[in-house]
Amino acid sequence: MKIAVFVSGGGTNLQAIIDQIHSKKHEDIRIVHVISSKKDTFAEVRAKKAKIPVSIILRKDFSSLNDYDFALLEALKGNQPDLIVLAGFMSFLGKDFIHAYKNRIINVHPSLIPSFCGEGMYGLKPHEAALEKGVKIVGATVHFIDEEYDTGPIILQKAVQVKEDDTPFDLQERVMREAEQVILPLAIKLFANGKIAIEGKRTRISN
Ligand code: GAR
Repeated sequence: MKIAVFVSGGGTNLQAIIDQIHSKKHEDIRIVHVISSKKDTFAEVRAKKAKIPVSIILRKDFSSLNDYDFALLEALKGNQPDLIVLAGFMSFLGKDFIHAYKNRIINVHPSLIPSFCGEGMYGLKPHEAALEKGVKIVGATVHFIDEEYDTGPIILQKAVQVKEDDTPFDLQERVMREAEQVILPLAIKLFANGKIAIEGKRTRISN
């Protein structure tokens, strides 16, 4: 199976996919393309080190979301990926892109959806909000993308305990390491093996 990974930042999730899937000879899943919505990211460095083709496609270079969608679709034409993985991708995808890859786009979000998600909740913000609310459990979610923010069918979630002295940075680091980097590669493998069925808002995972 061919996957394209969309990034915008540090690329720790991309690295987890490279290490746990792409570099493993026994896995029949390869990253064929990395697309970044930002310039000069560490994600780009990681992709190049793994010899994966990278395209930088900046949202600000396009006057409309339709044009941006079209540019992304054009960039993918050569490789025809089976699955798009949003791994810290900070740009919104429009209807055209989502329809072209219907039920074949997954996203990792740094909270237990439906808590601390939606427009504007990205990066460090869900962790700051979780500490402000005083919750004792946080975590990460992998879900399919639909046309709203963080509302598509949930594939996997993993919880992480909050410690009393945690800062937002501590939480971000632990949620990435203990949850995101575990469930994102797992969701990709489940998808590749045809183990995820979508039933309305719910998914059914088969063994
Ligand atoms: C990750 O925590 C990811 O869950 C989050 O951005 C970070 C990217 O880190 N994504 C979102 O907030 C999307 N709503 P990375 O570039 O090191 O993988």
